Amino acid sequence: MNTEELRDTMNRLYGPSDNPVTVYFSPGRVNLIGEHTDYNGGYVLPCALTFGTYLLVRKNGSRKVLFATTNFDHRGEVNLDEPFEKEGKSWINYPVGVLNEFRKMALETAGMDLLYSGDIPNGAGLSSSASIEMVTAFAMNDLFGFGLDRMNLAKLSQRAENLFVGVNCGIMDQFASGLGRKDHALFLNCDTLEYERVPLRLDGKKIVIVNTNKRRGLADSKYNERRAQCEEAVDALRKGKPIRHLSDLTLEEFEQFAHLIPDEVVLKRARHVISENNRALEAVEALKTGDIGRFGKLMYQSHHSLRDDYEVTGHELDSLVEEAGKISGTIGSRMTGAGFGGCTVSIVTDDSVQRFIREVGSGYAKQTGLQADFYVAEIGDGSKRM
Ligand code: GLA
Repeated sequence: MNTEELRDTMNRLYGPSDNPVTVYFSPGRVNLIGEHTDYNGGYVLPCALTFGTYLLVRKNGSRKVLFATTNFDHRGEVNLDEPFEKEGKSWINYPVGVLNEFRKMALETAGMDLLYSGDIPNGAGLSSSASIEMVTAFAMNDLFGFGLDRMNLAKLSQRAENLFVGVNCGIMDQFASGLGRKDHALFLNCDTLEYERVPLRLDGKKIVIVNTNKRRGLADSKYNERRAQCEEAVDALRKGKPIRHLSDLTLEEFEQFAHLIPDEVVLKRARHVISENNRALEAVEALKTGDIGRFGKLMYQSHHSLRDDYEVTGHELDSLVEEAGKISGTIGSRMTGAGFGGCTVSIVTDDSVQRFIREVGSGYAKQTGLQADFYVAEIGDGSKRM
């Protein structure tokens, strides 16, 4: 990203000013394993990417915060002396939601010109929205000296998304965007928020992200439906053991109490969460001991569980994983993020990457009529001032 060009864009959109411009960045993320576990108090293993959202900030001496982005034409503003209102489905709700959370903590900002610029493929499920929230939270915290740490900024950003935007997401995306580290995966316990940065020793292998380019229609409502089903499972299982989350159960305990869940669908949802939590634990051990083969098998198992028990994959994601499995150099492959479209993540040996891109691309086009996009992922740092 060329920040000089962005400075020119800022002057063009808002007019020139002598006030200093500060540039911030927060990345998108890819989750290696531990899917739909975060809001169930379980484990996740995401990494921050090198693409994400840049934010240029300049104080403007007024009581207005002005918003613009290089990604869409739509611009907006809020008045700091009035309550913040949600604006339809606009992207502006993400940063305004963050300002609103600071305001609730009596942390007041000032009039500013803001310019956002993202290089994450849109709607791909790589957390462009979390990166907008985190870059805003990180920038405000830095510029106004609020003194919150990164974990609290991630929690604040999650609240902005839950309460202002109205999407009931877990903590994973904001956490990964804020706390990522170059060439490390983040192993997070979403119940206690304890985490560990685990070196990604992939020697001779690459992480390849493939975008289905399928629009994720209805994803938010299906996501909220899954959350409700998990809560239903917790209620039923409490007759066997006083749990707070599904992740409080081991697989053995789950088998013992599964008969307490009368609804077949709810039972499958719970089985995914508890088995996936186990897989995330096993996968981090495999990563630490350098057993990438084991890691890859767990990725496939994760995908199958998301397909059969959680039912969030669909033809496009399933086709990509199936085609990836046909390449001898593919170590593992699965959907990543919420599902219902979006991306897969695969681990592929260096010498197979070109073949992977060619053959998965053509196999996928044959199966779905869609063109996939391929990214050889680089794992980068979390939120920063440039
Ligand atoms: C979305 C949410 C996350 C997480 C994943 C599924 O990305 O924002 O909190 O629940 O889906 O693992």
